[in-house]
Amino acid sequence: MAKLRNARFPNRRSSSPTPTLILSLILVFSFLALILLSLGILSIPSSSRGGESDLHPNRSSISRRIARSSSSNEEGRGEQWTEIISWEPRASIYHNFLSREECEYLIELAKPKMQKSTVVDSATGKSKDSRVRTSSGTFLPRGRDKVIRAIEKRIADFTFIPIENGEGLQVLHYEVGQKYEPHFDYFLDEYNTKNGGQRMATLLMYLSDVEEGGETVFPTAKGNFSAVPWWNELSECGKRGLSVKPKMGDALLFWSMRPDATLDESSLHGGCPVIMGNKWSSTKWMRVHEYKA
Ligand SMILES: *[C@@H]1O[C@H](CO)[C@@H](O)[C@H](O)[C@H]1NC(C)=O
Ligand SMILES: *[C@@H]1O[C@H](CO)[C@@H](O)[C@H](O)[C@H]1NC(C)=O
Repeated sequence: MAKLRNARFPNRRSSSPTPTLILSLILVFSFLALILLSLGILSIPSSSRGGESDLHPNRSSISRRIARSSSSNEEGRGEQWTEIISWEPRASIYHNFLSREECEYLIELAKPKMQKSTVVDSATGKSKDSRVRTSSGTFLPRGRDKVIRAIEKRIADFTFIPIENGEGLQVLHYEVGQKYEPHFDYFLDEYNTKNGGQRMATLLMYLSDVEEGGETVFPTAKGNFSAVPWWNELSECGKRGLSVKPKMGDALLFWSMRPDATLDESSLHGGCPVIMGNKWSSTKWMRVHEYKA
């Protein structure tokens, strides 16, 4: 008798907990799915989002081709997507390249070290003060700390140019009225190309929004500048060429060299005067060869 009763008990126990067991299994699985989703391992199909861009059938030199990344909100950086803005010069914007924290970190790091910016004298190759560049700035050594190493790795991943080819990050500050007249980033002297060779590409990262002015302008870009969607928000200076409005976290990549390694004169660019607000930016210049830091 006792044996029989004991034998029956496990049966009753296993029949009554079934609904709770299923419920808890469902809970565990949905938790797992949520965790996987938040880590970006699982992703919700998002093919409909990519189709909204205004693709032109022909190849105009200023076009907006948008490629959205499928994993949004990576490391608190918001949605990231790249936008090709010009073929002459080759230029594209990487939206939300840096997080707000990274932007603020770079500004705070640079603030105590800011000095009046100089330009390179093309005759002597030495730095000199100039009226064409009225900002202040400082260099942060390559690989300086964990945050900077992560940014430099991201730059290499995005541009396909090795970290070792990059100069140290330059942080720049422009106050109202400050600007940088149109210039080339490549060098015309031998002195400056001894280490690393010619500058091949530039990544300009905007660390702050600018209320008015402060655009990066390419005055000799080929194409119809006024076709950019932000045309009406541009300052008078910004309307003198193809312009990019600074937005915190965005990065502008442009090439000083064509794919055949000749210098691209259409990469002429300047920083428009800031009219309202403050402009903070950080520049990574990338060389043809390893740059000994
Ligand atoms: C290029 O495309 C635009 C808009 O899609 C059109 O207005 C223009 O005529 C085209 N140009 C050529 C050369 O086909
Ligand atoms: C340039 O683009 C603007 C805006 O899309 C258009 O109104 C204008 O007619 C274009 N100009 C030329 C010369 O194609």
